[in-house]
Amino acid sequence: MSDAIAKTAQKAVTSAVQRCIVPACAATFGIREQIYVCSRCGGPLEIEIPLELLQSVPDLRARWHARASSDDARERSGVWRFRELLPFDGDAPVVTLFEGNTPLYDAPRCAQYAGLTALRLKHQGCNPTASFKDTGMTTAVTQAKLLGARTVVCASTGNTAASLAAYAARAELQCAILLPQGQISPAKLAQSMDYGAVVCEIAGNFDDCMRLISELGDVPFIYIANSINPFRIEGQKTVAFELLEQCGWRVPDHVVVPGGNMGNSSALGKGFDEMLRLGLIDRLPKISVIQAEGSAPLAHFFAGLKPSQCGADLALPDEIAPVANPRTLASAIKIGAPVSWKKALRAVLRTGGNIITVSEQEIADAKAIIGRDGIGCEPASATTVAGIRKLVAAEKIHAGESVIAVLTGHVLKDPDYVSHYHRGSLSFESVTEQGTTKSVPIGGAFRNAPEKVAATKQAILKSLESRR
Ligand code: F0G
Repeated sequence: MSDAIAKTAQKAVTSAVQRCIVPACAATFGIREQIYVCSRCGGPLEIEIPLELLQSVPDLRARWHARASSDDARERSGVWRFRELLPFDGDAPVVTLFEGNTPLYDAPRCAQYAGLTALRLKHQGCNPTASFKDTGMTTAVTQAKLLGARTVVCASTGNTAASLAAYAARAELQCAILLPQGQISPAKLAQSMDYGAVVCEIAGNFDDCMRLISELGDVPFIYIANSINPFRIEGQKTVAFELLEQCGWRVPDHVVVPGGNMGNSSALGKGFDEMLRLGLIDRLPKISVIQAEGSAPLAHFFAGLKPSQCGADLALPDEIAPVANPRTLASAIKIGAPVSWKKALRAVLRTGGNIITVSEQEIADAKAIIGRDGIGCEPASATTVAGIRKLVAAEKIHAGESVIAVLTGHVLKDPDYVSHYHRGSLSFESVTEQGTTKSVPIGGAFRNAPEKVAATKQAILKSLESRR
């Protein structure tokens, strides 16, 4: 980069601020202030990069693309190669595991299942710790280093924890994670143990862990890495840039993501918005968020909006009704009080997308279909394909439109679920209208159980013949 251009880019990132997203407040704070919510009104914060300075930087797209094949560690990261749009200067102690640069796959079986001509899957499970969280942890843990934090903490349904534990290990920081005891996949828990984190199993659900985390926010040496932290969102927004690059900068009609704590949908919204404001694209894709039926506070709120409110810039309420006792086998998104709902709702409303729910059976079948495309993902990710199918049936997505589903976690994140589905032993504890629980079996329409086969060539050929 020429000196003048490098200086302009540097100026843009060093003059970034943290801004409260509540329009009536809009307070700004310095980029190195250790706060997580607006200290004036308590609203959510986001990073504001002065994009007008970057408009004069030529060939940003070519620059980003060229870096992908560089030898430099920072440029090999699929997050840091977009560093002109990250709030860090050239001296930042970047903590990276070469996250991002994940594949965008064609998924013909999923397309057919959903009623589309074509469907592409952006597989964020192909990150170093096998979930999309890594793209945000590289920036959050880099900020923790800059602030001189000693300990990084998060509440988690498993993936945030695994990711933070890994990045903290790279950064030589202590890491503490709060997990709802007995409610997360053993595979994710195993990752956190392996990366050396202090694993605190809390007697409560994810929302209880999140409340505890906010109590830790005033301890100076502790840095919170949940997606309430706007530096997480900065890393995660780069998936929007990478997606556009993989689409040859042709904007897809729809991008569909699962919704849990709502950081991912918020980040995608911010990423696409920045590309539009920089003039690198001329319209926004519709962002839709899919929640599991038993853990769907934002979908319930959205369903209550009048059609006239949906396209407009709705004045966001202060609160939405939480789900007191969230339920779903997709444990990653078993969340009743998502912290980033405001940013996510804003992104969906701005782009004209939808927020809907899918059932446990729909999630399970969609997951198996994704597997049949040779891709595979964890249950929470499969809400996307299940949701797209519903949106196509409801004519909110049309068969010929270009649609991308973001898969958030790898199939090996939750092997017990996969095995139970294919063996026909998956079941869900549902709550009846009387408030009692009952076990509901999840059918396996695409079941593929192992069979006992005699140790002979003939038996194997017979088995193949019967399954042709
Ligand atoms: N998919 C997976 C695999 C996840 O792990 C999560 C969230 C989501 C989707 C939802 O994303 O929260 O940004 O809306 N997992 C968090 C965790 C809560 O602790 O690992 P979101």
